[in-house]
Amino acid sequence: MNTVSAVGELIGNTPVFSLEHPLVPPNKKLFIKLEQFNPNFSIKDRTALGLIQKAFESGKLKPGGTVIESTSGNLGKSLAMLSASLGFHLIVVVDPKVSKNSLNWFKAFGAEVEVVEVPDAFGGYQTARIERVKELLKTYPGAYWTNQYDNPDNPLYHELVTAKEFLDLPVDMIVGSVSTGGHFGGISKGIRAARPEIRCMACDVVGSAIFGAPFHPYLLNGLGLSWRAENTDLEAFDFLNSVTDQNAISLCRLLARDTGLLLGGSSGVVIFSALMALQLDDIQSVMAIAPDSGINYLEQFYDDEWLADKKMPLLSCEQLRQQLALSLKAFDATLDVVK
Ligand SMILES: Cc1ncc(COP(=O)(O)O)c(C=O)c1O
Repeated sequence: MNTVSAVGELIGNTPVFSLEHPLVPPNKKLFIKLEQFNPNFSIKDRTALGLIQKAFESGKLKPGGTVIESTSGNLGKSLAMLSASLGFHLIVVVDPKVSKNSLNWFKAFGAEVEVVEVPDAFGGYQTARIERVKELLKTYPGAYWTNQYDNPDNPLYHELVTAKEFLDLPVDMIVGSVSTGGHFGGISKGIRAARPEIRCMACDVVGSAIFGAPFHPYLLNGLGLSWRAENTDLEAFDFLNSVTDQNAISLCRLLARDTGLLLGGSSGVVIFSALMALQLDDIQSVMAIAPDSGINYLEQFYDDEWLADKKMPLLSCEQLRQQLALSLKAFDATLDVVK
């Protein structure tokens, strides 16, 4: 019997699910790396561990020290879990849009929460939150800002550690999602160094500005951004693909009913993209990295009333099949402009 004595030891080595579904083309393979099996239910457990380990190693964070981060999502939950386990003080900077569920999640682990009430000049909270982080860094001299967007320790950890879990796999392509660009940028670099024949496709939600299109609001959480973070290196990827809210959400809802997998919205984006890529003649098997669980979205796109309120009808399996064919056509047309 293997035993562990710290939650950090439970991070990684997530299971791989081989998807059997009518949307997978015959004789092709779609594998899903289920990151929801990390102890705090997302791939951000790995990112948090990498950032904190590096901060301790470099002496920038001392036992009992303070960590500050602007996040209302999965990274905050993972840092909060590690703060409880490793004994540092965490201040999570959020804005009024944060859900009660996330607030309670941070607090359950003993993290302190700072709510920024006044929006920035553009009406959003992103820059206002960063300004508050900078103020707090003055109030807590010696505090460490993990800064997931721009800190190179984020992709570096995934390049050196997470990528190893992908090196032995019999796949032609790996598909991942981006927000900070940390996990998939790092994994892609690690893959390219060891298995350059495996193609890496980075995926985002339509509306996000990471791949250069103008920003407009979208429903999915977790992936996408209204700008491109320093940790997103587009050169690390062979292909880029964007998926609509409706296609990603409809696929998540369909897979929940057909397979019993409860997946987050960014997982819908990567699995849709993987199904699209599997229609290409030279792609026989694809691995999709599913970052988190649908447990985070039970009051959003797993709620029919929420969907009705957002005027977002769900597509059937047959309609998704048509969307996959249409998306492949559009993707083919962009192949000349990506590398
Ligand atoms: C659910 C989910 N999917 C995808 C991502 C994108 O990951 P990264 O920031 O490493 O690019 C995140 C990041 O927060 C996330 O929470």
